[in-house]
Amino acid sequence: MEIIKADHLSKLFGPVKAVDDVSISVKEGEIFGFLGPNGAGKTTTIRMLTGVLTPDSGSAQICGIDIHTNPLEAKMNMGVIPENGTVYSDLTAEQNILWTAKFYGMDSISRKERADELLRHLGLTERRNDIVRTFSKGMRQRVSIACAIIHSPPVLFLDEPTGGLDVYSRRLVIDTVRIMNGKGSTVLITTHNIEEANELCTTISIINKGSIIATGSPEKLKKTFDTAKYVEIAFEQPVKKELFVHEGISRVETHGDKMRLYTDDPDKAVKYLAALAEQQQVKILSIATSNPTLEEAFVQLTAGA
Ligand SMILES: Nc1ncnc2c1ncn2[C@@H]1O[C@H](COP(=O)(O)OP(=O)(O)OP(=O)(O)O)[C@@H](O)[C@H]1O
Ligand SMILES: [Mg+2]
Repeated sequence: MEIIKADHLSKLFGPVKAVDDVSISVKEGEIFGFLGPNGAGKTTTIRMLTGVLTPDSGSAQICGIDIHTNPLEAKMNMGVIPENGTVYSDLTAEQNILWTAKFYGMDSISRKERADELLRHLGLTERRNDIVRTFSKGMRQRVSIACAIIHSPPVLFLDEPTGGLDVYSRRLVIDTVRIMNGKGSTVLITTHNIEEANELCTTISIINKGSIIATGSPEKLKKTFDTAKYVEIAFEQPVKKELFVHEGISRVETHGDKMRLYTDDPDKAVKYLAALAEQQQVKILSIATSNPTLEEAFVQLTAGA
């Protein structure tokens, strides 16, 4: 079943087409990654999906409920970590969490139980009675997460939840997303961190200048760029570049003490290089093959577009 559905969403800000005919479909249980450079339209899309912003055209449904005609009901199904956190600076960590739980209609016993559990899980127990104004960015983000998941929502929207966080807080955020997903939440997450998207997401959409330019599993997106495969080799003595002219090798680059040979068929290239070393009587110091990274796919897709 489609849990998050956007149909032809568009939003103009003056002359800027922030979002231009974006359609998204996220199935139950997925972790969907929204990737794009600064200003691509990620936040604007999330704001329309979560009912903060009215689209100029198009519609969106959360768990089959239209966010614009039925906003309250739709919002009950979602937890949101917006780009700029919405925690209240004048309340304590615990008050923020309890207040949010109350908003979602949780009874007082489960509010307290769940708040205790989340404060512990997010490493905030000792600071639970301190006002959020005195918190660091990472701690504030953890309060924001607690507020987003207190009611165990079927849908989670996270707008760059790991931006500017240290390794520990980042791990905590990622682990929490995984745990929530394991418990059945469908997740839409935006990030600049391509490795993070690669490791976390089942499907990724790349957005650039308001439009989605590619969608697929991380592996599928990488495969679109098969020609970026290469073999990197270091010889003990220099080997003439001319010797690398071979049907399987499309381009040769020097990288420090290594040669990088681009090829469609790394297996064939490696065999050729081994034979070449034998024939030239030079020793191979190291050899490695590299598959295209998601980052390369991303850069190629968004460069100059
Ligand atoms: N409230 C607004 N008023 C005017 N222009 C806006 C507003 N919000 C967004 N924009 C413009 O819309 C475009 C998309 O912005 P958006 O915040 O959605 O990008 P983003 O992909 O989230 O970028 P980032 O990675 O920097 O967070 C930008 O050109 C931005 O300047
Ligand atoms: Mg943004």
